[in-house]
Amino acid sequence: MLAGQLDTLAREAARLKPLHLRELLAEPGRFERFSRRAGPLLLDFSRQKLDESALQALGAIAEQCGWRQRRDAMFRGDLLNRSEQRPVLHTALRAGESQLPSPAPAEVADEIARTLRRMGELVDALERGDAVAYGIPAGITDVVNLGIGGSDLGPRLAVEALAGYHSGRFRCHFLPNVDGHETAALMRRLDPRKTLVLLVSKSFTTQETLLNGAVLRRWIAQAYDGDEARAAAHFVAVSANVAAAQALGIPPERVLPMWDFVGGRYSVWSAVGLVLALAIGMPNFRAFLRGAALMDDHFRSADDWRNNLPVLLALIGVWNRNGLGHAAHGVIPYLDALRELPAFLQQLEMESLGKRVGADGGELLQATVPVVWGSVGTNAQHAFFQALHQGSDVVPLDLIGAVRPGHALEQNHAALLANLLAQGAAFALGKTHAEALAEATQGDAAERAALAAQRTFPGDRPSSTLLLDALTPESLGALIALYEHKVVVQALLWDINAFDQWGVELGKVLAKSILPVLGGADVPAAFDASTRGLIAAIRGLS
Ligand code: F6P
Repeated sequence: MLAGQLDTLAREAARLKPLHLRELLAEPGRFERFSRRAGPLLLDFSRQKLDESALQALGAIAEQCGWRQRRDAMFRGDLLNRSEQRPVLHTALRAGESQLPSPAPAEVADEIARTLRRMGELVDALERGDAVAYGIPAGITDVVNLGIGGSDLGPRLAVEALAGYHSGRFRCHFLPNVDGHETAALMRRLDPRKTLVLLVSKSFTTQETLLNGAVLRRWIAQAYDGDEARAAAHFVAVSANVAAAQALGIPPERVLPMWDFVGGRYSVWSAVGLVLALAIGMPNFRAFLRGAALMDDHFRSADDWRNNLPVLLALIGVWNRNGLGHAAHGVIPYLDALRELPAFLQQLEMESLGKRVGADGGELLQATVPVVWGSVGTNAQHAFFQALHQGSDVVPLDLIGAVRPGHALEQNHAALLANLLAQGAAFALGKTHAEALAEATQGDAAERAALAAQRTFPGDRPSSTLLLDALTPESLGALIALYEHKVVVQALLWDINAFDQWGVELGKVLAKSILPVLGGADVPAAFDASTRGLIAAIRGLS
């Protein structure tokens, strides 16, 4: 952002500082002016600490940055990921379900349609229990998704969120980490002859995934007296590195492609979502794509930023970070089924926007992505909400719920929604010292004042509420796409390439040099004092 734009935000923030959210919420028409709907999603941002003038200033910045041009360039497939010279076309993955004609290159659309068809055929065959044409043995009951980061978080979120739509044909498991406890536990639980392993890795170089793949391969081979070919029949690969997958002995008919034009964290809509398609069936998987396409269509057609949900969400984030200076952002789904949403958004937002230099290499003037974290409500209320209500730092929140539940326990759902609404109100309104004092009945005046101080809620703590009509494949697709587009808009405003992730590389390289040392090789003198000390401690005990 430019210095002048940051100055404008600072001025707006200073003007609003003395105004408590209680006063803003008392303005007539507040909810109507600061809430918007797109398809099955309602965004209420009336509890954000902003007013017309601040919002106008934010919208003006989006206009100055040319958000519509950037949006159209992305859908068209321009080279937005300049550091890797790649287009950004995750939206093309769901364009088949869109109401608008896709501007993506025709060959990309063809390739995606072909892969979706292949994926559907594989899912059908496995559902029929007749995937011998693919070389997969009959009787598969369990599917293990072997992948990490974008090859895990999106599929895992969706599989858990859509538990109500599971066909029950397969039990689905996720094994992202290299922690052998999990791998060993999974092998204890599952029958190797009835297990299908989905090796999902865009690069096919990820240590965790390949290592676990080799372990599971040995485990399955043992069940066939060491017959490697029969073990390989239990593997399907999803990768942009098709040759590497085939080199592992997985034949072409069991390798589904991914592409460089789709970032890992934006890839759940591709064959990376195979585990989801196996869990909920292809018709529901297509409904999931349809929900995302609905949000794409909204993003593309709501040209007035005031009515564009992703732009509004992005602007609210910029306001909280750069206007009000909040360094964290909480995601609290009031739906246990969305328990993986905070982790998914951590990767989506922090891996995309966790950068301090711009696309041209220059140091950025403004702070960028806040720390994204969260947990499900109401559990979170009984854990860390104390700090959010009365702690010294303000953490803006996204509170997310569904109007209609997927069960008949009406009282439970009413209690869940009541808590969601109550928390947003409590954060915004707070409780004054005078109100707390009026409630304090015990002790002398000094004691009552001390107690009242501790029972005062400052309030003025912002949150947005996102209400889904119900949690369905469509609404989940729309919700995820909403956040994807929020990231794209923030990337533009912050001048960040949201599609590379150089910051994850250094640690990977160091781990590679440390691994042989843990196996007994000499400790290189170049290792730092801490690494050397810790290696000595590990060696002392092993
Ligand atoms: O290390 C980070 C990362 O590259 C993520 O961006 C990615 O989602 C994850 O690793 C997994 O990568 P892959 O799908 O290539 O195995």
